[in-house]
Amino acid sequence: MTVLVTAASGKVGREVRAQLDARDVDVRAASRRSAISLDWSDPATWPAVLEGVDRVFLIVPGGDDGHRSVTGLGSAVVEFLDLAQHRGVGRVVLMTALGMEYAPAEVEQRGVELHLQRSGLEWTILRPNWFFQNLTDGPLRALADAHDGVLRLPTGDAAVSFIDTRDIAAVTVEVLLGDHHGREYALTGPHSLTFTEVAAACRDSPVPVEAYEPISDPDFRSTVLGLGWHPDYVNTVSGLFATIAAGHAEPVLPDIADVLCRAPRSFAGFLAETR
Ligand SMILES: NC(=O)c1ccc[n+]([C@@H]2O[C@H](COP(=O)([O-])OP(=O)(O)OC[C@H]3O[C@@H](n4cnc5c(N)ncnc54)[C@H](OP(=O)(O)O)[C@@H]3O)[C@@H](O)[C@H]2O)c1
Repeated sequence: MTVLVTAASGKVGREVRAQLDARDVDVRAASRRSAISLDWSDPATWPAVLEGVDRVFLIVPGGDDGHRSVTGLGSAVVEFLDLAQHRGVGRVVLMTALGMEYAPAEVEQRGVELHLQRSGLEWTILRPNWFFQNLTDGPLRALADAHDGVLRLPTGDAAVSFIDTRDIAAVTVEVLLGDHHGREYALTGPHSLTFTEVAAACRDSPVPVEAYEPISDPDFRSTVLGLGWHPDYVNTVSGLFATIAAGHAEPVLPDIADVLCRAPRSFAGFLAETR
C-alpha cells in the first residue's frame, strides 16, 4: 500500500510521514519543497504524484507563513480529488480545522469537505484545534517575536484546548490504516488554556513567549498588516481569533482518546520536551 502525504514539509505532514515510516508504510511525501513535487497551483505536477497511490492524507494550505494569499487553492484541491478518484485512489483522510462543519460551503476548506463527502471515495475528516507548535513554528511564534515575547491578540480572556501535532499525526495514521470511513473527528488537547496561562507556562521554558495582552480586532489587523501579512491571511486569522474570543475553541473533546485509547499530550509535557 502506498500513502500520499500532502503538505509533507509542514507541521502536521512531517509528523504523519515519520509515523507512517515507523509503521513501515510506503510513503509518498509531497509538497513544493518535498522530494516529490506537488504544487496546488500547478496541475501539471498532480498526475505523477498520484501514480500507484492507494490512500491520501490531504491538507489544504492555510497560509501560515502569512505573506502570500492561498485563496483559490480549495478549488484546486477539489479538482485534485476528482483526479485521485479517477486514478484509483480508494481512501482520503482530510484535515481541516475545528468547527469547519459549521462554515458555509463558500469557505474553501468546507467546500473540500463537502466535495469529499459526496464523492465515491472512502473518507475520514479530522478537525483539529490550534496546535501547541504554533508557539514554536507558526503564526503565534511570529507574533511573539515581533513584540519582544508579548502575544497581542484579539482573543479577550477566552481559552483554547490546544493540541500537539504529534497526536494529530497519530490519529491520522490510525484512520489511514484502520476502518474509519464516514467518521468526523474533532481533535483537541486534554486541557483548555487561556493565553494568559499559556504565557505564564512559557516563561519558564525556551518558548519565547513572556506575556499576553488582549487587543481589539482593528488594532490586531493594523499591527499584522504592518508586519507585511497578506490581507487575505489577516482576514482568515482575524476570523479565527473571533471564533476563539467567542469561546468556540474551548471545549475539550474525547475523540483523540477514543481513537488512540490514550490521553492526548499535555501542554506541560510539550514545554518540558522543548527544554
Ligand atoms: N496552525 C494551527 O493551529 C491549525 C489548527 C487547525 C487546523 N489547521 C490547518 O492546518 C493546515 C496547515 O497544516 P500545517 O500547519 O501542518 O502546515 P504548515 O506548517 O502551515 O505548512 C504548510 C504546508 O502546505 C504546503 N503548501 C503550501 N502551499 C502549497 C502549494 N501551493 N502546493 C503544495 N503544497 C503547499 C507547504 O509545503 P511547501 O512549502 O513545501 O510547498 C507545507 O507543507 C491548514 O489547513 C490549516 O487550516 C491549522
